[in-house]
Amino acid sequence: MTLFDDIEAPEREEIRQLRKELTEHNYRYYVLSSPVISDMEFDRKMRRLQDLEARYPDMFDPKSPTQQVGSDLSPKQSGKWEQVAHRYPMLSLANTYSREEVADWLRKLPEGVEIVCELKFDGLSISLWYEHGTLTKAVTRGDGQKGDNVVENIKTIPSIPWHIEGEDVPERFEMRGEVLLPWANFERLNQERSNQEEALFANPRNAASGTLKLQDAREVARRGLDAYLYYMLGEDLPAKTHFDRLQTARRWGFQISEHIRVCRTLDEVMAYIAYWDNARKDLPIATDGIVLKVNSLAQQEELGFTAKTPRWAIAYKFPAEKQKTLLREITYQVGRTGVVTPVANLEPVHLSGTIVQRATLHNEDFIRSLQIRPGDMVFVEKGGEIIPKITGKAEGIASLDYDYHFPTECPECGAKLVRVEGEAAWRCPNEQGCPPQIKGKMIHFVSRRAMNIEGLGEETIELLYEQGLLHNIADIYTLTFNDLASQERFGEKSAQNILNGISNSMLVPWERVLFAIGIRMVGETTAKKLARRFTSLEQLQVADREQLIAVEDVGEQIADNIITYFADERNREIIRRLQDAGLQMQGEAPEVVSQALAGQSIVISGTFTQHSRDEYKAMIEAHGGKNVGSVSKKTSFILAGENMGPEKLKKAEALGIPLMTEEEFLEITTDH
Ligand code: IVH
Repeated sequence: MTLFDDIEAPEREEIRQLRKELTEHNYRYYVLSSPVISDMEFDRKMRRLQDLEARYPDMFDPKSPTQQVGSDLSPKQSGKWEQVAHRYPMLSLANTYSREEVADWLRKLPEGVEIVCELKFDGLSISLWYEHGTLTKAVTRGDGQKGDNVVENIKTIPSIPWHIEGEDVPERFEMRGEVLLPWANFERLNQERSNQEEALFANPRNAASGTLKLQDAREVARRGLDAYLYYMLGEDLPAKTHFDRLQTARRWGFQISEHIRVCRTLDEVMAYIAYWDNARKDLPIATDGIVLKVNSLAQQEELGFTAKTPRWAIAYKFPAEKQKTLLREITYQVGRTGVVTPVANLEPVHLSGTIVQRATLHNEDFIRSLQIRPGDMVFVEKGGEIIPKITGKAEGIASLDYDYHFPTECPECGAKLVRVEGEAAWRCPNEQGCPPQIKGKMIHFVSRRAMNIEGLGEETIELLYEQGLLHNIADIYTLTFNDLASQERFGEKSAQNILNGISNSMLVPWERVLFAIGIRMVGETTAKKLARRFTSLEQLQVADREQLIAVEDVGEQIADNIITYFADERNREIIRRLQDAGLQMQGEAPEVVSQALAGQSIVISGTFTQHSRDEYKAMIEAHGGKNVGSVSKKTSFILAGENMGPEKLKKAEALGIPLMTEEEFLEITTDH
């Protein structure tokens, strides 16, 4: 090894790291439709990887994200969609945020070349297959080589023709384009989701992608997707230029953008970009850049493709929209869990299609590090997230006399705020007396995954709280028909529906009741595990710290939260009332079938074919055994499936603990 190898090592590691990161981001973006970083950041990372790979050609890997297009294929096991191999690979475009690079690209093209300028639609690409004039398939990009056939959903888009006619329509061809959800439909959809307390889509692209993969075409139709087509593919197609082909496609009935222009000089191209940089804000659909394509198809062919992108096209992407505006005031918002977030109240500005007047300032440290104060000009941005954020200070210098203090008291209830060590957030500890927290608890209680009380959503809870009809979750069970029917917004029918919903919630099992009452940090899974161990409220209420910690997933912090919860007389009173109302406060105690495994400590490891892990766990308990998490010398045996964890295996061998197969285990338990 030379000295240089040593020096290069960090960059090689960076390549590996970036490949891993980008693969994950691709998955989040294309498959889950919920990216966690902005497009800009993604592109920056991709650039960095491209640069590094160019410097270390020996690290070339065809599987690198730089060599493959991101994949939107649904996970294989779902088996929901027919997978179809693309006749022509579905490539992406080289892209840049720099107008200088656009100019460089143009300068390298043959002299006198015509450029078609188009909007870059921010949706997801689709390939429509037509045979004898009939739409037969609609294939998503997938991994570029094969995609999902979502034709049933595509047929809900009114602007996509199911059949086309015309003398010059080829026997077989593909139209490629972008499926998108117009702003108006996106906003309506999010409004509905917010009313129903469902997660919001961060942007129209994610909404379109989530919609296109729905199983219910009626719901797809209702949401109102649209599509613009921008590329024709096949043999013996009409026209010699891209532009003329699109005109032909329009004549056949496809929706082609009105805003396509043929440009002949760099100046014309730059003017197009400059115009749309601003004008796009008034479009009814989301765009994220401009696409430039060589017009002549003969020239396109000459230029050809790289592994991932055509050389005859490039995308210029608009930078994430950022606006400068005046910070009028900092206010503080208390969330459902008591976290206090500083909010910037702004001079209203237009940003990515909406007017923004509030944005998050994150936390105390953020404000201090940028020395932000009311009266400053600040930058506000809307990234991939729903809530706009302040990203910086537009003017101003560091000053020695800067002084900022986070409030010491809760703006809602006046309680003294606390800042947990190691956390950036300040929190209001007054869970029982702080209005947003009280409402938050009730909203959580009625939500779908908890008590699932239909008809009782966020707005209704707020309303009934404001009127003094609800103070805590137990009050829900004392609501009367009159309380509800006398509300202006309800008729008798919805009042009755809510009462039915409330009465159905008596059937919700103990484990979900335990989740619904909202003990801090007791989520769905923890509640399930607790409910299995403590099969009634009485048992749980008297459990000590040690017994609680013995439950899988329950650490000291959660154990303390449970103890604190039940130590509070107000909580005990609420629980008593819920119990009196008839809620399920006990689960089925696991049935004891035999004592075949009495006194045995059994570890389960690996994957199984005949029963699930949970079923085996239940069986162990039903036969008097104890299921434990880790191997020790007290372990009686290991119920070992396929691919048992290597650590456990090593330990078992070292301690001489026997392994038992699934079959052997079933034999000893079914006899009894
Ligand atoms: S042309 C072989 N034109 O942007 C080139 N793509 O970042 C085919 N896109 O995968 C693509 N608007 O999903 C083209 N006017 C437009 C476009 C467009 C949006 C999308 C498309 C592509 C992605 C690349």
